[in-house]
Amino acid sequence: MDIRFDNKIVVVTGARDGLGRRISERFLERGAKVFCCDLNGDGLEVVAQQGATTKRLDLTDRDKAAAWVAEIEQAAGSAIDVLVNNAGGWAHAKPGPIEDVTDSEWDTVMAINPGAAFGMCRAAVPGMKRAGRGRIVNMSSGAGIAASRTKLHPYTAAKHAVVGLTRQMAAELGEFGVTVNSVAPGFVLSNAFTKADWDRYSPEAQQAHRQGTFMRRIGEPDDIASAVMFLASDYASWITGQVISVDGGR
Ligand SMILES: NC(=O)c1ccc[n+]([C@@H]2O[C@H](COP(=O)([O-])OP(=O)(O)OC[C@H]3O[C@@H](n4cnc5c(N)ncnc54)[C@H](O)[C@@H]3O)[C@@H](O)[C@H]2O)c1
Repeated sequence: MDIRFDNKIVVVTGARDGLGRRISERFLERGAKVFCCDLNGDGLEVVAQQGATTKRLDLTDRDKAAAWVAEIEQAAGSAIDVLVNNAGGWAHAKPGPIEDVTDSEWDTVMAINPGAAFGMCRAAVPGMKRAGRGRIVNMSSGAGIAASRTKLHPYTAAKHAVVGLTRQMAAELGEFGVTVNSVAPGFVLSNAFTKADWDRYSPEAQQAHRQGTFMRRIGEPDDIASAVMFLASDYASWITGQVISVDGGR
């Protein structure tokens, strides 16, 4: 399947490293005009060198997120074609019982996952509606579908909220030619942090994890990026409101 995005306006959040970087690279390779942001600017130069326009931006400031969307639309002279809400994570929240979850952990994780996706969608959707087309892909997680092995209450709640936002927006935006879907990754060796996490597993635990996966291997960023490419493409024009697990089968 040769998916091209020639001259499409593609926005990827959380792109300094990990899945966001690889997703951005795949869109660039396929001819898109890519705009990337991240809270942390270190690493954004990697996608900038490949042609992306980058911005250091804290998406929890929704006014600034809206201003960035307006800036992109003005620079592009058109609406955003593809919005990938990839930014998120668990922001160093600690796994543990619900009574130990702090307000700060809860508020932060909600703000950077559904909060950031909400702010970007609210700003980008009016342009998509006017254009009569658009693709939104929200990054959830296995933790957005069921209780998670991470034992992170804020993260599981936040990713379920990403799924809820996806479904509700899909119901509203279909008539405007806009699809909204979510990719739910399993455990992926996406960056130094997840690789260090994996290295802390004993060899037996690593083997058990692989054996518990139908495909008998750990995920790579390209596994996730491929699903995003498909959902963002014309091949997925009648798919909306869906959550696609990309986890090797678990
Ligand atoms: N790697 C995995 O195993 C895995 C599994 C399931 C879901 N995910 C999800 O996939 C996405 C990417 O994960 P990753 O593994 O590449 O991790 P990552 O930490 O490399 O990527 C997330 C990026 O989001 C950015 N970000 C966080 N808060 C932000 C804010 N307020 N404003 C702007 N940017 C912000 C971070 O700086 C980071 O670069 C995340 O949403 C994560 O929850 C990852």
